[in-house]
Amino acid sequence: MSALVTGAARGIGAAVVAALTADGHEVTATDIEKPTGELALALDVRDEAMVGWAVAEAERLAGPIDVLVNVAGVLRAGPVAEFSEADWLAVFDVNAAGVFRVSREVGRRMAARGRGCIVTVASNAAGVPRVGMAAYAASKAAAVQFTRCLGLELAPAGVRCNVVSPGSTDTAMLRALWNGSDGTGTTVAGDPGQYRGGIPLGRIADPADIAAAVAFLASDRARHITLQNLYVDGGAAL
Ligand SMILES: NC(=O)c1ccc[n+]([C@@H]2O[C@H](COP(=O)([O-])OP(=O)(O)OC[C@H]3O[C@@H](n4cnc5c(N)ncnc54)[C@H](O)[C@@H]3O)[C@@H](O)[C@H]2O)c1
Repeated sequence: MSALVTGAARGIGAAVVAALTADGHEVTATDIEKPTGELALALDVRDEAMVGWAVAEAERLAGPIDVLVNVAGVLRAGPVAEFSEADWLAVFDVNAAGVFRVSREVGRRMAARGRGCIVTVASNAAGVPRVGMAAYAASKAAAVQFTRCLGLELAPAGVRCNVVSPGSTDTAMLRALWNGSDGTGTTVAGDPGQYRGGIPLGRIADPADIAAAVAFLASDRARHITLQNLYVDGGAAL
């Protein structure tokens, strides 16, 4: 089985590559700059032509893609009143349009073959409003509903499309949000001043926690699951 993962150079994407590889997939790891590893390609999900090239190249190298995992994402935070249009468009270009571009290209091929599965990594912020995260949360909500609509279109061809929505996960993205300080305490306990609940299970997720859910949805054990959004956030979306 061949898999393609975007945003695979680090964090959750790298953990997804490891989990799918452990499950026996031949995984093409892609990121804006070519990741290290044997089967790796540069793929900027903002570039439609590059998406077409990279998907064709991945299939030439590793065979027809059976599993696509959309992980590439960016976070720009700030209150709406001070948020620029350029930042809004930049966030949507990766988090929403990027998922569209790659899923359209791979989805067409999967539909023609009558098999395949797509998993989009969104965020629990898509379902729970968060102060200072309007653009990010809206872009992730777009990715969620896009993926579910695509799943409905591709269901007759036997292609499944699901979403994994992580909560706070220990990666470079979360640490950048903490601005260099250790925000573990506040993140786990919650912050009433920000209307933010904590994490009932009492810990920040490890990237492997998210990857395990992705690997399950990508496996035959999930063969009757499609159009679903699985929150992997220790209960934070309560
Ligand atoms: N870390 C968290 O707390 C958290 C929570 C919820 C959702 N997520 C989501 O999980 C996914 C992975 O995040 P992470 O925490 O591992 O972050 P990360 O910043 O460590 O990794 C994101 C990866 O996406 C890549 N990327 C960015 N723009 C790209 C582009 N245009 N084309 C291709 N690749 C691009 C980056 O180079 C990077 O390798 C993201 O979609 C993120 O929004 C993360």
